[in-house]
Amino acid sequence: MSRTTLTITPVIAAYLTHAGMRDHPVLSELRARMADFSEGHMQVSAEQGAFMQMLVKMSGARKGIEIGTFTGYSALATVLAMPDDGHLTCLDVSEEWTNIAREHWQKAGVSEKITLKIQPALDSLAQMQGQEGLFDWVFIDADKENYLNYYRRGVELLKSGGLVLVDNSLWGGSVVNPQDAETRAIDECNRFIQQDDRVDMVLLPVSDGLMIARKR
Ligand SMILES: C[S@@+](CC[C@H](N)C(=O)[O-])C[C@H]1O[C@@H](n2cnc3c(N)ncnc32)[C@H](O)[C@@H]1O
Repeated sequence: MSRTTLTITPVIAAYLTHAGMRDHPVLSELRARMADFSEGHMQVSAEQGAFMQMLVKMSGARKGIEIGTFTGYSALATVLAMPDDGHLTCLDVSEEWTNIAREHWQKAGVSEKITLKIQPALDSLAQMQGQEGLFDWVFIDADKENYLNYYRRGVELLKSGGLVLVDNSLWGGSVVNPQDAETRAIDECNRFIQQDDRVDMVLLPVSDGLMIARKR
């Protein structure tokens, strides 16, 4: 029994990876590859990826959108958990980072389950006219200033029972006292979701904070 959430030390994080989840060889390879890049922290953690996989399976998600793909870790974890006919549309602006993603998706044999669109995500989302209510999964992990715009459009595209996940919703804890534009945008998005009666919601202390909203 506990009234608070455990502080996760590096040793506990290593335990979670080794004893608290089942790894996939290409996921562990991609984590190892990004460990040497200063930008590697942008990748979701191993335990967050495993948790997202559990959510995909529990919700039965098979048609999703990912906003912010980077080198493809969260996308790979997501589609590995989807059934064979599952599909994820990935939105990013970087050819450079997503080339690494494509390489690993191919290695894992999931390339056909992913469509990658390289342009600002708001443009891609606007072009999804007529697809409202067709998706059951939206993962938001791109530029923070647009979080609320991504959430609003994401909820439109979701079907009833579908999930929106918003990454970095605690932003290192700084949301409790926002001092810059990015932090204010994340806090604004959190508060909007909390008041949005179209969804049930919870913000969990998974990694850097993972907001989960389920469309009613
Ligand atoms: C935190 S990383 C995503 C990490 C990824 N989900 C993973 O687990 O590896 C954020 C990504 O958002 C992308 N991004 C930033 N601004 C964007 C925009 N306006 N539209 C689409 N993608 C954007 C960046 O290129 C970067 O790859």
